[in-house]
Amino acid sequence: MASAPAFLLLFIMLLCSATVQAQRKIPLGSPLTAILIKNSNNTSWESESGDFAFGFQQIEKDGFLLAIWFNKIPERTIVWSANGNNLVQEGSKVELTISGLFLIDQTGKQIWSTTKTPNTEVSYAALLDEGNLVLANQDSANLWESFNEPTDTILQTQTLTLGMILVARYSESNYSSGRFHFNLSDKGPRLYKRAFPTEVGNTAYWQSNEVSSEYQLTFNQSGFFCLEAKNGTILTVLLSSTTSSSERDFYRRVILEYDGVLRQYVYPKGDYSISRLKWSMAPSTSIPSDICSNLTENTGSGSCGFNSYCKLGDEQRPSCFCPDGYVFIDPDDKIKGCRPAFEAQSCDKDSLDGDLFDLHTVENADWPESHYEHFIPVTEEWCRKACLSDCFCDLAYFKNGDCWKKQLPLRNGRMRSNYGGKAMIKIRKDNSTSKPGGTKSKGQDQPTMLLIGFLSSSVFLNIVTLVGSLVLFRFSKKAKVIQPYEFMPDMNLRTFAYAELEKATNGFEEQLGRGAFGTVFKGVIPFGNVSLVAVKKLDNMMKESEREFKAEVSAIGRTNHKNLVQLIGFCNEGQHRLLVYEFMSKGSLAGFLFGPLRPTWHHRMQIALEIARGLFYLHEECSTQIIHCDVKPQNILLDDSYAARISDFGLAKILNTDQTRTTTGIRGTKGYVAPEWFKNMPVTVKVDVYSYGIVLLEIICCRKNFEAEVDDDTQTILTDWAYDCYASGKIEVLVNKDDEAMEDMKRVENYVMVALWCIQEDPSLRPAMKKVVRMLEGTIEVSDPPDPSSFISFL
Ligand SMILES: *[C@@H]1O[C@H](CO)[C@@H](O)[C@H](O)[C@H]1NC(C)=O
Ligand SMILES: *[C@@H]1O[C@H](CO)[C@@H](O)[C@H](O)[C@H]1NC(C)=O
Ligand SMILES: *[C@@H]1O[C@H](CO)[C@@H](O)[C@H](O)[C@H]1NC(C)=O
Ligand SMILES: *[C@@H]1O[C@H](CO)[C@@H](O)[C@H](O)[C@H]1NC(C)=O
Ligand SMILES: *[C@@H]1O[C@H](CO)[C@@H](O)[C@H](O)[C@H]1NC(C)=O
Ligand SMILES: *[C@@H]1O[C@H](CO)[C@@H](O)[C@H](O)[C@H]1NC(C)=O
Ligand SMILES: *[C@@H]1O[C@H](CO)[C@@H](O)[C@H](O)[C@H]1NC(C)=O
Ligand SMILES: *[C@@H]1O[C@H](CO)[C@@H](O)[C@H](O)[C@H]1NC(C)=O
Repeated sequence: MASAPAFLLLFIMLLCSATVQAQRKIPLGSPLTAILIKNSNNTSWESESGDFAFGFQQIEKDGFLLAIWFNKIPERTIVWSANGNNLVQEGSKVELTISGLFLIDQTGKQIWSTTKTPNTEVSYAALLDEGNLVLANQDSANLWESFNEPTDTILQTQTLTLGMILVARYSESNYSSGRFHFNLSDKGPRLYKRAFPTEVGNTAYWQSNEVSSEYQLTFNQSGFFCLEAKNGTILTVLLSSTTSSSERDFYRRVILEYDGVLRQYVYPKGDYSISRLKWSMAPSTSIPSDICSNLTENTGSGSCGFNSYCKLGDEQRPSCFCPDGYVFIDPDDKIKGCRPAFEAQSCDKDSLDGDLFDLHTVENADWPESHYEHFIPVTEEWCRKACLSDCFCDLAYFKNGDCWKKQLPLRNGRMRSNYGGKAMIKIRKDNSTSKPGGTKSKGQDQPTMLLIGFLSSSVFLNIVTLVGSLVLFRFSKKAKVIQPYEFMPDMNLRTFAYAELEKATNGFEEQLGRGAFGTVFKGVIPFGNVSLVAVKKLDNMMKESEREFKAEVSAIGRTNHKNLVQLIGFCNEGQHRLLVYEFMSKGSLAGFLFGPLRPTWHHRMQIALEIARGLFYLHEECSTQIIHCDVKPQNILLDDSYAARISDFGLAKILNTDQTRTTTGIRGTKGYVAPEWFKNMPVTVKVDVYSYGIVLLEIICCRKNFEAEVDDDTQTILTDWAYDCYASGKIEVLVNKDDEAMEDMKRVENYVMVALWCIQEDPSLRPAMKKVVRMLEGTIEVSDPPDPSSFISFL
């Protein structure tokens, strides 16, 4: 290669030795450079007739392809290329030397070259009128032909022989090697799906019935693409053209397209300046006739990507679709397949997830070979139930008493009008549960008034005071607190030895607080960039719950949000279960809010938003949904910059598995717990929304929900007072000692309305945290909240 340029001048003279052939010879030393096909004469070499050209084609913004194309038609139609897998950039060039043709990129690196013929020197190159680029020697014997190294296209007069291969491109406009190839093997011509991205043919989806060990494929002047024996006998016509007009009237090509189908296209020759013409499929069948049905893989996704299905459209063209509840992983590259748009069913034995799923019939579709269980004879109803109750089952296929359970990733998906069976895909039921917008009920009815009267009475308050704020009630409803989890051993948590924590806390000396789950101590551990830590000693953990403990800790450890207290590590030694958190220097929101120094309205708004964002993250954004179950100002801590951080999340599930006490109790704190805890109702993220609503009111008003020492009895229960103020249009009363808030009444009212929505008795009326965040931010309008009436059903 290095010596090649030295010879260039020597051979320039050959340019002049014109022979009487109908060829436009390209002399040695003719460089083509990769620049935009504009006012340069050197970016392409044309064939004599001008029908074809060889040179650089720009492929979108990605680079340049050294290619041969139909040169006269307006559409760029590339029929051969050298560097589909390796586009080059501006400044690259092609050099023709005695050793062959070389593609050199802008850095001088050789990207591609013609295969070298030993002992002969190239004399010239020519692009023939058939579209064949040849390198010839002095005697005009061809040393190299592009027709012998086809890419994905065959042109008229071209012959494919044993050992040759056509490789489909990746997509319509991406010329790199795709997922299909046509192999002229000694067993006959076959179409293969490749084990992409390797080049190995995996599954043959078409082969010729005519078998001959010596054969070739020809594409003749009248548009017949034939399999013929070596002696010239036509064995079978693979693709034919029935256009009756003379062969001279059309350009033709046979191409293995990116969708795996071999097709013949024709393009009328004519004056393209006056008539709009296009490539159309020669009216004959394509190969294979129905790739959706003909390509079934034992391993691999089939003709479309995993979880999608293939359907033939116009001209038998396959397209890929996602079933209900699924979306394309990459809408710009559908071949990558589909993914469920919902959270998978939990396989946790305690999970009540099953009720949350449904089977949707995908008419006339099937995903052959994706099954893992098969039952006969059963009814369709049996099949449905079997799939719904099986967390592994993602799809049930029922046909004439046969029931197949299938699981992800679903393979070989296809849809055709006559499959007959019934595919039922499992998807999570409607997951939008917040429907705020009910009518505002003005007057309270009689029973409500009576109850409120009772609740406000001193008897009730005494009970409340007695019971205190940290008591847990026993109730019969078993709560599902944390949804599916996968154990991730690589979680970023450190394990601590008990002795290590004992030392760090100086023998559990300085107590920071006591909560429902245990006691928290201050400690010092140099770890990363934190050194002060809060060590939470969990009470009475049973050994049996080991697995659950690890699971929950790992779920907590996987969370990462600026409004959550970060878990640093844990200790799990026999009876000792401890969690190590980063230390929050400014204490709890309770101390701040109800303490002597009332935080400013501006700061309180920030805190309200930060808590809402933290909860939204726990509910919807982290990998394992976490319901906090005990949102209250004592569990909201403040970091160095007084930003709110939620603590104690994820612990409710650990308590749930604690067999020694409150096995099935109310998780949460009196005054903040949602009414559904007291009823036989499922516990959802909406319990946190409720508690958040109470906390929000407390933040707005800087007082506790229950306050016995108030001048006016109607103000004892903050939620009731707030609603009364709202209903009578006197919201300012709630913040009347707060000048800053008084000047921002519009926002105060907005916050109060959000809080009233959050504390609706009916969980479905409460907005999801995502909506709460948006309402607080003012990005969505808050409608009039109805009377929360939350305490009627309590008693
Ligand atoms: C085109 O190629 C000729 C030699 O074949 C060279 O002299 C000329 O400079 C080239 N023109 C451009 C624009 O590259
Ligand atoms: C390109 O070639 C044509 C004739 O073939 C000539 O008229 C024109 O000047 C050339 N342009 C450049 C940029 O060399
Ligand atoms: C073409 O597709 C291949 C395979 O997916 C990808 O690696 C490559 O980046 C794509 N090329 C372009 C230019 O988009
Ligand atoms: C083509 O098929 C032959 C015979 O089955 C095989 O040996 C060869 O590796 C295949 N070529 C490619 C590129 O897969
Ligand atoms: C092309 O092949 C078909 C089918 O074998 C044949 O009928 C036709 O005459 C051939 N045309 C030419 C120009 O060879
Ligand atoms: C050509 O070869 C095929 C089998 O390869 C054979 O059946 C046929 O008779 C041969 N025809 C001639 C004319 O030899
Ligand atoms: C391809 O599928 C069609 C439709 O199901 C069928 O009629 C045809 O026989 C199949 N072809 C092959 C080669 O399997
Ligand atoms: C469920 O939620 C996901 C993600 O928010 C959404 O894409 C999907 O459409 C929802 N499904 C239903 C049935 O509402």
